[in-house]
Amino acid sequence: TYEKAWLIAAMLLIVGFIATITYGSIGLGIAMVDDEGGSIDPNEVFDHEEFSDPGVQQVGEDEYEVYVRAQTFTFVPSPIEVPAGSEVTFHVTSPDVIHGFSVVGTNVNTMVIPGEISTMTVEFDEPGEYGLVCNEYCGPQHHEMSGQLIVT
Ligand code: CUA
Repeated sequence: TYEKAWLIAAMLLIVGFIATITYGSIGLGIAMVDDEGGSIDPNEVFDHEEFSDPGVQQVGEDEYEVYVRAQTFTFVPSPIEVPAGSEVTFHVTSPDVIHGFSVVGTNVNTMVIPGEISTMTVEFDEPGEYGLVCNEYCGPQHHEMSGQLIVT
């Protein structure tokens, strides 16, 4: 019947959309796997161990958690070193004002609000060096706020 044909056509269209989106993210070589967040009291950022002494933690064979403090006017730690081909989850927060966390040349780009933990999971396929920049005006040295990400 016509009704059935339309239903099948609609389903094929949906499958096509999903395939396109999936291909689009794989095609970049940098996959955003998921996006979740959390929040803490902005005045207590330094009371949380992962943000008072932030860094890279290996949590699985090919899985890393990276804690980053975006603060006027630097990223801590820097450089950040992660191996290629692994799943890297960034958790970024700010103890002071709104900053940005952007990995230059990739689609990794997020706003960092004091006390809000911006979380994103990324896979870097190839070794390389990336700049980290802040893309939210955060004060007079905003344009100098930068860091480095090394994929080994
Ligand atoms: Cu931090 Cu602009």
